[in-house]
Amino acid sequence: MKLRPYLDSDHDDIIALWTDCGLVVPQNNPSKDITRKLKTGRDLFLVGESEVGIVGSVMGGYDGHRGWINYLAVSPSAQGLGYGRVLMESIEALLREKGCPKINLQVRNTNTKVIEFYKAIGFLDDNVVSLGKRLEFDN
Ligand SMILES: CC(C)(COP(=O)(O)OP(=O)(O)OC[C@H]1O[C@@H](n2cnc3c(N)ncnc32)[C@H](O)[C@@H]1OP(=O)(O)O)[C@@H](O)C(=O)NCCC(=O)NCCS
Repeated sequence: MKLRPYLDSDHDDIIALWTDCGLVVPQNNPSKDITRKLKTGRDLFLVGESEVGIVGSVMGGYDGHRGWINYLAVSPSAQGLGYGRVLMESIEALLREKGCPKINLQVRNTNTKVIEFYKAIGFLDDNVVSLGKRLEFDN
């Protein structure tokens, strides 16, 4: 798998990947999420491509205090090959270059099986309650 920043031509394949990975939910329009992300730049929005096409993605962000991870996905047929780890190591390296001291991420409480993956790559439970306030409704 080779990694590169997102290209506009990836749009449909990326949304298909996220759908296959169960990351698309009614409250978040993935196309709008891509448009919003691109307004902040694309250097932290990585796409993984192999000979079969797009097999992975990670949408990172840095707000000047914490790095954030969203839309981490590996195509179901390519899971278990180490691609998820490579995506996370790559985004971590880019965040370090920006001076980011810590990475945060949220896991939906319907997706707890992914927690073992994050623990395997060095993430710990921060023991916090995550709150959110919607400013724009996608659905
Ligand atoms: C989470 C996800 C990206 C992991 O990608 P992956 O390519 O399958 O993971 P890797 O093969 O790189 O695994 C890395 C390590 O995590 C471990 N791991 C992965 N999934 C695991 C699981 N469900 N339970 C326990 N360990 C797991 C692997 O054994 C491996 O450990 P090792 O390197 O010590 O052998 C992938 O499963 C996925 O896309 N899931 C659906 C989307 C999703 O839930 N995204 C995250 C939203 S918060």
